[in-house]
Amino acid sequence: MMSDSRAMHGDEETFVITSAEFVTSAVRPDQYPSDELPEVAFAGRSNVGKSALINCVVQRKKLVRTSSTPGRTQLINFFNINGSFRFVDLPGYGYAKVSQSLRATWGEMIETYLGTRENLRGIVHIMDLRHPPSPEDINFWSWLKGAGIRAIPVLTKADKLPRSKWDSMARTAGQILGIREADCIIFSAQTKRGRTELLQSLLRLLGK
Ligand code: GTP
Ligand code: MG
Repeated sequence: MMSDSRAMHGDEETFVITSAEFVTSAVRPDQYPSDELPEVAFAGRSNVGKSALINCVVQRKKLVRTSSTPGRTQLINFFNINGSFRFVDLPGYGYAKVSQSLRATWGEMIETYLGTRENLRGIVHIMDLRHPPSPEDINFWSWLKGAGIRAIPVLTKADKLPRSKWDSMARTAGQILGIREADCIIFSAQTKRGRTELLQSLLRLLGK
């Protein structure tokens, strides 16, 4: 399917993003795209850098809107990549300033998508390298494991932390989440650190 967009990077195969287009926004399942293209969703705390990470991965500055105001992405946004799969930008959790009922709506929206979407191959769970995973990060991670959803843990905003602290933060995150430290991808949307590694993991998740 992607034979025309494969590339070798080091000894591992990765892929080249040749096109990335916004498809639609949704709140309910009847608004999701109805075809069978595989999907990978991006989730994490509000303002952690989900949209910036997607833009970095697809190498487009403004495919997805980013903002310094938390809670910017309030809908489930679908993007067609290379005409062969989709990236799905999910609204962030843990935005304290929204009302309890709005938070409940968001939870339901995300849980419905993650719990029922047959196209879903897995998710990229984005956390902040500067802080140990929060109780909400841990909750979400456990929920994903309980639901049997494959997840790639990514620790972002690495450019905001001295290099000397990366390993110990990744180790702490790994211990808290119950995974090997090496399984966490240290990432920065600003420097593109971790982009190739993430592409390789995405390739595996999509079964390409
Ligand atoms: P919501 O949609 O509101 O949930 O936020 P989000 O998770 O999509 O975050 P977004 O990508 O909008 O980024 C939030 C802020 O963090 C923006 O000001 C980004 O420019 C900044 N940011 C995101 N990733 C990075 C990064 O890797 N390094 C630095 N320095 N800033 C980042
Ligand atoms: Mg966003």
